[in-house]
Amino acid sequence: MAKGAWPIIGHLMLLGGTPTPHKSLGSMAEKYGPIFSIKLGAKRALVINNWEIAKECYTKNDVVVSSRSKLVAIEHIAYNQASFGFAPYGPFWREMRKIVTVFLSNRRSMEMLRQVRVCEIRNSVKDLFDVWDNSKNKNQSGYVLVEMKEWFTRLVFNIVFQTMAGKRYFGTNAVVSEKDAEKCVKAVREFMHMLGVCTMTDAIPLLRWINFGVKAMKETAKELDVILDEWLVEHTQKKKFLGEKVIVESDDHQHFMDMMISVLDGVTIEGFDANTINKATTLALILGATDTSTVTLTWILCLLLRHPHVLEKVKEELNTKIGKERFINESDINKLEYLQAIVKETLRLYPPGPLSAPREFIEDCTLGGYNIKKGTRLITNLWKIQTDPNVWEYPMEFKPERFLTTHKEVDVRGHHFELLPFGSGRRICPGISFGLNMIHLTLANFLHSFDISSPSSEPIDMTEILGMTNEKATPLEIMVKPLLSPKYYETMPSDEC
Ligand code: HEM
Repeated sequence: MAKGAWPIIGHLMLLGGTPTPHKSLGSMAEKYGPIFSIKLGAKRALVINNWEIAKECYTKNDVVVSSRSKLVAIEHIAYNQASFGFAPYGPFWREMRKIVTVFLSNRRSMEMLRQVRVCEIRNSVKDLFDVWDNSKNKNQSGYVLVEMKEWFTRLVFNIVFQTMAGKRYFGTNAVVSEKDAEKCVKAVREFMHMLGVCTMTDAIPLLRWINFGVKAMKETAKELDVILDEWLVEHTQKKKFLGEKVIVESDDHQHFMDMMISVLDGVTIEGFDANTINKATTLALILGATDTSTVTLTWILCLLLRHPHVLEKVKEELNTKIGKERFINESDINKLEYLQAIVKETLRLYPPGPLSAPREFIEDCTLGGYNIKKGTRLITNLWKIQTDPNVWEYPMEFKPERFLTTHKEVDVRGHHFELLPFGSGRRICPGISFGLNMIHLTLANFLHSFDISSPSSEPIDMTEILGMTNEKATPLEIMVKPLLSPKYYETMPSDEC
């Protein structure tokens, strides 16, 4: 057990504010070694910090660590445990996980997902071009200042909401007003932030409520429920009106909510009715997909602007392997090895969930030679593992080349325990391909379509903030200028959209 626990709160004071929890826990690993425990209020939590222990954990002990902690906050804000991302390990989680995995990987939905990505990215490139075109504030070299966190957020939310329920919240043909769309994004972000803080403070009932207040938590949850409910009513009516056969066989996309309505067919599972399960599962995917992808895209741009030689190299790759004046398609991504290496290197240094998602030991077991008691929480410090100097040369430096040379064989899919941005084992992120496809295609088309530069000679600010994801604390303002001829931007969106 690490020293320095305070009465009642244990080590919680180390886990708030600055430095961020993964860095505080990382410093403790320097002192206490790769496996140590801390107290979160009355609860004991085991913190693991190297690939060897992670491997032992997610192979030999995987079943034992495949449950999530039952956070009290979840009961109030996330449909109790009908949300499979927070559900304990067992038949309900297995069933939901299977349904989600099938949706994200079957041939029919893959085509729908591909089309949504392509259309939204094309729309988004066109929108940014229009911002530039209409701007009266171009500098002498023709660049315009834009805020990119917002641009990525709008794009990612459009892709995810289209996939879940066929809804476009931003830009042309948006189904809600700009104000309502922003309110919704704010609610999702607040929700993620609450989850992040509650994960740490849940063990102490008083802190749980002091942090936000029950009222604020319930209000945020209610706001999201109203939106999900509206979508569900609409999709249920559509099914009644058109009939199952027509939806499945028509050209109309079968969105995630439609698929859930058909699969659940009104049944109650483990006390949760079909509508609650549908909304809870949709919300789990929205929460899992939006912030993580936006945060990753944001850090990638920050790192590229801080490393101009890497930016030049990826632009050269795009020019030689794709050429100019055409949209980059998903089938091109395999050729873009350096671009993929940039994404991996960003996920290594800035994993969006640096402490993964909290797990709980459901049986006594041994790990790293220690006896661990049932009920102990598990915190996997992904950031510490991914910056271990025993594995990574110059661990804190941004060197995408390592994934083309020394670490060529290392991927992010949970089998190489030195790089686990999506976690590992049974509970590994089910959205790896969805997330990577979205990030690769967005990045490739953005860098192909626009020249970018820093707005000042000061290096881009890299301060992170505490939450469920390690977000950049400040906006990302950069200078952009179209790289290609206006004709290229006019062909977006295409007939396919
Ligand atoms: C850059 C993108 C992403 C990263 C880095 C990421 C990372 C993670 C991590 C670290 C976990 C915890 C895994 C564990 O406990 O070992 C997780 C779980 C999860 N992720 Fe992702 N994720 C990303 C994108 C997505 C997307 C696109 C979706 C949805 C389509 C998604 C849905 C989920 C869900 C539902 C869970 C909970 C799974 C369960 O408990 O069974 N994620 N993700």
